[in-house]
Amino acid sequence: MSDRPTVPQIRARKVRDGAEPLVMITAHDAPTARIADAGGVDMILVGDSLAMVALGYEDTLQVTIDDMVHHTAAVARARPEALVVGDLPWMSYHTGRHDAVRNAASLIRAGAQAVKLEGGAKRVSVIDAIVDAEIPVMGHLGLTPQSMHALGGFRVQAKSSDAAMALVEEAKALEHAGCFAIVLEAIPDVVANLVTESVNVPTIGIGAGSGTDGQVLVFGDLLGLDPARPPKFVRRYAQGFELLSGAVGEYVVDVRSGAFPSEAETYMRRRPPPTRWRSTAAVGSRRLAAPASRWGCGYRGARPSRLSPCSVMLTR
Ligand code: KIV
Repeated sequence: MSDRPTVPQIRARKVRDGAEPLVMITAHDAPTARIADAGGVDMILVGDSLAMVALGYEDTLQVTIDDMVHHTAAVARARPEALVVGDLPWMSYHTGRHDAVRNAASLIRAGAQAVKLEGGAKRVSVIDAIVDAEIPVMGHLGLTPQSMHALGGFRVQAKSSDAAMALVEEAKALEHAGCFAIVLEAIPDVVANLVTESVNVPTIGIGAGSGTDGQVLVFGDLLGLDPARPPKFVRRYAQGFELLSGAVGEYVVDVRSGAFPSEAETYMRRRPPPTRWRSTAAVGSRRLAAPASRWGCGYRGARPSRLSPCSVMLTR
């Protein structure tokens, strides 16, 4: 029996009612999902930040529903205990209710238990259709990266009093449409607190202060996988880039010095090699001395004292 939190359990997690804050983190593949899950998070978001943190794009507009399905399935194959939320990318729900439901369903079939989409009142119609298809929807307000051109870049939102009041109305519209939780990104803490007080579903902040009903961070930000300076709202819990590149550096030194692999890391043949191997190796080394071997092994000449896997292949 899985301990995975259910959508109704998540929906009921309001801090003002005594609940513990929700913890969500992004993951984009099976290994990161396993790490996130072992850390004990409540929810894993297969976010469209995939575009920037894993695929090297400048913004999130470049990922497609096929990319998101591919990565949601990879996360789901890790069989996490956490609830998996699949992010609907740009243009997967902007073209109408039918497309929105079909694309949301493809994330569910890939292994998500819920989907997330960006925007307020103008998304109510598609949220209504997705919820009507029995698919739980998480909302996302404030800085919505899919609207980066319309917003004029990645900027803190709802700084004026009017914008703050409008944001509260957007959040109420999402709650009314059936969203079970709402992400609040890059808004002043007081505005996030006001939204959190105004709705009965949990708010999950990222750059929205400590008064929300939960927090979400991007996996690589939290673990310091990118050497660039992170945004103000990120706390790094590990210096992942330094740690991991340092480990790769040790491997490089060990290979170049001959310290890796050792006998412990080698499949050892206990019996002495038969004499005919030596003549085979000699034939192999003659062939490998040619500019490029037929097998593309890349050796420009076999080492005389050892039988390389390539020389075995050449004479098989
Ligand atoms: O795609 C993502 O990672 C997100 C989070 C920043 C909430 O939407």
